Amino acid sequence: MEFSIKNGNPEKQRNACVIVGVFETRKLSAAATVIDRASDGYLGSILRRGDMEGKLGSTLLLHNVPGTLCDRILLVGLGKEREFREREYRQAVQASIKALDGHGANDVASFLAEVPVKKRDLAWRIEQMVELTMSAIYRFAHPQCKKGEERRGVYKLVINVPQRNELKLGEAALKRGLAIASGVRLARDLGNLPGNICTPTYLAQQAQDLAKHYGIKSEVLERADMEKLGMGSLLSVSRGSRQPPKLIVLQYQKGKASQKPVALIGKGITFDAGGISIKPAAEMDEMKYDMCGAASALGTLKAVAEMGLPLNLVVVIPASENLPDGDASKPGDIVTSMSGQTIEVLNTDAEGRLVLCDAMTYAERFEPEVVVDIATLTGACVIALGHHATGLFGNSDALVKELASAGEEAFDRAWPMPLWDDYQEQLKSNFADIANIGGRAGGSVTAACFLSRFAKKFDWAHLDIAGTAWVSGKDKGATGRPVPLLTHFLMQRCGK
Ligand code: BES
Ligand code: MN
Ligand code: ZN
Repeated sequence: MEFSIKNGNPEKQRNACVIVGVFETRKLSAAATVIDRASDGYLGSILRRGDMEGKLGSTLLLHNVPGTLCDRILLVGLGKEREFREREYRQAVQASIKALDGHGANDVASFLAEVPVKKRDLAWRIEQMVELTMSAIYRFAHPQCKKGEERRGVYKLVINVPQRNELKLGEAALKRGLAIASGVRLARDLGNLPGNICTPTYLAQQAQDLAKHYGIKSEVLERADMEKLGMGSLLSVSRGSRQPPKLIVLQYQKGKASQKPVALIGKGITFDAGGISIKPAAEMDEMKYDMCGAASALGTLKAVAEMGLPLNLVVVIPASENLPDGDASKPGDIVTSMSGQTIEVLNTDAEGRLVLCDAMTYAERFEPEVVVDIATLTGACVIALGHHATGLFGNSDALVKELASAGEEAFDRAWPMPLWDDYQEQLKSNFADIANIGGRAGGSVTAACFLSRFAKKFDWAHLDIAGTAWVSGKDKGATGRPVPLLTHFLMQRCGK
């Protein structure tokens, strides 16, 4: 896929297809108006005939429009002009790419980025167009899974800006969009891989390949290292697995040496059967996605490295399987975490927090300015927020605000949830310092409360991505979220 930025006249483009927007009811966008004039009112006459009303996401492909030099014109419905906001813009862009899917028109000039969106500038619209296009053409392919086929559809997208003096701004937005899209793609690829390929060892190898490619410091801790560190909580999760656990540590250092790093900690359960507290069979395949937190941390690191952002970033990934076995952890077992706190494992399926807590304690050695963990942590979060918002928790209001606003900006949104001490009660254990579950009520909150016990030494936030990291059903697959949110968060932190 090839992108470029141009300031061109819609009627003079020689591409296979020119994309322009039409509002309800038949109101033309600026570029569509230009084409309408050049074609002596051709667009207007087609619309009056009733072939298209401009409904949001509808499309109409026209051939050989008089007065134009392109082969085709794709009209894209924008809906009501007064209601045209981020969501509508995104839907229109998605529809424009989808309409050309499987089509011979592969060299395309889009004029959709010129359409004003409330509160959003041209740079935002371009960045979104790049990310949405890359996401729309994404196909999972792997030699041991589904082999890649030749794709027909958009291959070259020329994004037009209204003014010549906006070219530079457009180029910068394009670069950002491409960097984020490459991070999203990595996260989706890793997430979509099955558990028998994407094991902790595989994840560690991928992380090291990424580190090597960008000149990032990397280290992988083995079981023996974790034993020495006293990571009894993390290790308890992998007892049932034949795959060795890994603790992946990456250090990107492009900030000032004196600048404390941001630490991202990604849950890397490459398959979660629940352990002895085994999950029901239905949809258990989806638990291959239980490493999407790890995948998004790696995707974000890739985006950051692509842009060469001037900051210090540490990525820590506790990677393990969670399986039943004769030697697996049992409900009631008590383990000692690296922090020294003892944990009563009342449910072996609440394993995410058990691997994360030791990774959080490990992260203390980097003296991080802030720590953000990303995890497909609770089914309860999906019940609370559905699939649109990531659950957002934290012990610092300022950090929570920063992440929420980064999510808004990226349109990869997270919604704040409470982390009140009142909920901590539910984690009381008669036999250990803390229990690993707190009952059904407020399950995503008590999971976050558990993690907060290991975040006493830094500002910390937790993103529960159980509802946003993948989609089920016929379009089943990883989404790459929250790579856009996290990348924007880091861009904001270094003023880029
Ligand atoms: N990986 C799951 C969370 C999950 C479940 C994500 C369904 C997406 C869809 C996690 O390890 C888990 O099993 N959590 C339990 C916690 C419970 C035992 C307290 C859950 O949510 O049921
Ligand atoms: Mn689980
Ligand atoms: Zn899990």
